[in-house]
This record gives sequence, C-alpha cells and structure tokens, in this order.
Amino acid sequence: MPFSSYMDWVLHDPVHGAYGSGLLRIGPRGDFATSPSLGPDFAALLLRQIAAWLSELAAAGDGPLALVETGPGEAELALQLAQGLAQSWPQLAARTELVLVEPNPGMAARQRERLGQAGLKARWSSFEQLAAAPLRGVVLAHEVLDALAVDRICSDGSGWRQQLVAVQAAAASPGQSDPQPEPEPALGLVVGAPLEPEAMAGLAALGLEQPGPQRPAGWCTELHPGLRPWLSSCGSALIEGHLLVIDYGLEAWRYYSPARSGGTLMAYRQQQACSDPLREPGQWDLTAHLCLESLLEAAAAAGWQSLGHCRQGQALLALGLAERLHGLQQVNLQASEQSTGHDLATLLARREAMLRLVDPHALGDFRWLAFRRGDRGEAPSQATSGSENEPTSRRAAGAGTAESQPAEHQSAELELEKYMLPLFLRQPDD
Ligand SMILES: C[S@@+](CC[C@H](N)C(=O)[O-])C[C@H]1O[C@@H](n2cnc3c(N)ncnc32)[C@H](O)[C@@H]1O
Repeated sequence: MPFSSYMDWVLHDPVHGAYGSGLLRIGPRGDFATSPSLGPDFAALLLRQIAAWLSELAAAGDGPLALVETGPGEAELALQLAQGLAQSWPQLAARTELVLVEPNPGMAARQRERLGQAGLKARWSSFEQLAAAPLRGVVLAHEVLDALAVDRICSDGSGWRQQLVAVQAAAASPGQSDPQPEPEPALGLVVGAPLEPEAMAGLAALGLEQPGPQRPAGWCTELHPGLRPWLSSCGSALIEGHLLVIDYGLEAWRYYSPARSGGTLMAYRQQQACSDPLREPGQWDLTAHLCLESLLEAAAAAGWQSLGHCRQGQALLALGLAERLHGLQQVNLQASEQSTGHDLATLLARREAMLRLVDPHALGDFRWLAFRRGDRGEAPSQATSGSENEPTSRRAAGAGTAESQPAEHQSAELELEKYMLPLFLRQPDD
C-alpha cells in the first residue's frame, strides 16, 4: 500500500489508530510534549496575536466570530485561549464561539471531558460541515499538519519511485530439520512504481525533477499529498479571517538536502523518538516536517494570502516573551504564594518552559505561518506612530509583570493594537 494509506491507518483508524483510538497522550508525562502542554505562557502570548486578528474582524463588521482550533489534542490550548480571551478581552470573547475540528473520536472524547470539566462551551465540527455556513474568525493549526499522511518517495539512482509498505513473509531459518512454527510475516518498505504526474509536478516546482547523482539509490524523503485538500477545505470553512499554522517546517533546500537521506519522518511514544515508522503500528505517533515552499504553494492554490512566516522564537519574542520572563523575576514570592499559590518551583518551571519555547534547538525552531482570506483587500500595513512605536520592552514593563497581575488584563482591550505581530506584516523573506 502507499505509505500515506499506511500512515493514515496507523494514526486515524478509530479502533487501531494511535489518535483514532485516543491512545496517545500529549504532555510532559504523556507520549510527547507540545508547546502549550508545557505551561500557560505559550497560550497567553499566542492569544495576543489571535485577539488582534479577532479585534480587526470585530471592528470590520457586526455578527458572531469564531476561534477554530483544528487538531486540539488534549484541548489544553483551546482551554487556555478561551479562558484568556474571556479574562482579558471580555467584549471580544462575548462575540467569539470556540469551534473544535477533530476527526479522531478517541481524542474528541477527551477534549469534551476536559472542556466540560472547566465549564467551557464549545462545539465540534468538521471543515465540511462548517462550509455550509462559513465563519468569520481565526483558525489555529498547532502541530496538526505534521500528522497529515505523507507519501514516501525514493531515488532508484536515476529517477523517483514510490516507497510502499508491504507485508513480507519472514524467511525460515536455514538448516532446521524439526518442523518450525510458521514465521511471522513482517512489514517492510519496498520500492514501487515511478511517481504519478502530480507528484512529479510538485517535485519539478522545487527543482527536483531528477534525484541527480547527489541522491543515490535508496535516498528517500516525503511528499504531502494531503496539504492542498486540507488547506482547501479549511478555506471553505472561513468566509473571512486568518489561519495560523504552527509546526515543524524546513525550507526546501534543507528538506531535500542530499545529506538528509532518510527524510524527516519520526515516531514518538512515551517520550522516546524512533526513526522506524513500521514499528508497532498504531502504538506510536508518526510525524513528518512540512516543506515551507510546498505549504506556501498549496495555500496560495487554495486561495489563502500569505502574510509571512517566522520561527517560533521570533514570534514569541515579538509577542512579549522576554517581558514575561522578566516579570517572573519581579514576582513577590511571599505575596504570590498567598494569593495565587505560585511557589518558587512553579515559577522556575515556567521560566524553563519559556526558554524551551524559544530555544532555536528545541521548540523555538518551529515555524509560524500566517495566512488570510476574505475580500477586504490588502493586509493592513504596520503603520505605527507615537506611543505605538515604542520598543516592546518599555510597553510591557508598564503593562505589568506576571500573568496574575490585574493591570495587564484591565488595559489589554485598549492596548490591543500594540500587540499586532509586526513579523506577519512583512514579506516572508524579511
Ligand atoms: C500532535 S497533536 C497536537 C495537539 C495540540 N494541537 C497540541 O499542540 O497540543 C495532533 C492533533 O491533531 C489531530 N488530527 C490529526 N489529523 C487531523 C486532521 N486531518 N484534522 C484535524 N485534526 C487532526 C489529532 O487527533 C490530534 O488531536
């Protein structure tokens, strides 16, 4: 079978799939950690960008708005965003519905439980259902597209071929006279037919019509046939608004570098990483990086206008991470412990989590890609003047320190435009 069918099955089969069955647990004590699972600061910073976009939509017209999270996992991020919006931007929150798009029944059941316990209202839907009455709002795709099924391709020395998953009969051990039990068949990766024209066109657009001498027989990598349909159905769910993709990503020259001879596919389980995608099917998370150029091309074809992209470290610093970190150091521990229960260990854990979020060798290397659709013309320019042009550090120093301090919340609605992320208003190359 094509690798994409295998990957789809082992991740999303409702009974045997790692996500479909709800087997995988996300978080530092689960199978793997994601940025929001490390603590509250990722969501609090990301919310500034989301609130800015929602506020732009709110100013442009009446009617309901939506915050759509696709692939919500344990629903930790959705929970933190919805609670943060209600606390810091109550007027916006009153107009904003939380919508979750989760195709895996096992994960959706846990999300319902988590949000239900917190008394939060949300509805679950699919992009296809939403397309019947498209929304105005923001769609967030955090670590979802890396779970889309990929096709594996390999070089045969002169051209490209599919890499397939096959059930192979295990060879019987030689020299055994006694009758042996039937050998267990095993899964293997085998070379298949030359690529279909559509896959070849995608490679040609990246300048990779041929593997060339640098990619000898056996060199293999991934293609994302599901990206364009996903972006297209996501687009049909939104009449106007933004899409923010946050994921593992590489530029094409890095993705298809001759040195990366085994592709980007990895398996994760119980905080272990493994490069064998065939190991214990349905027990491991499988993930592949995104090729940035392929994603941008697929998004443009699906009618999304790109607003730019940057690394997570840059994005979170632009949204005020350094000030937040600085704020932690100003917390009066004695007062804080009494009022919020924050002890030194909690504060140190938050500090460490924030550093991991921006570490270029860890989560800081994640890519943030922003897109927009709707017919209100060009993206607004970053026309800042006067106080809005002040350096971020000064702004945030005045806005408060720790999350729990009320001054930041009270002023948040008025200060909103100051948190527009300038990186997304420039060209991708900047
Ligand atoms: C790696 S988890 C990310 C969870 C969460 N966003 C986070 O960062 O903690 C991937 C999530 O995407 C879901 N998922 C997988 N394929 C999807 C698809 N095609 N559309 C929407 N969600 C999908 C999985 O069930 C799971 O909830």
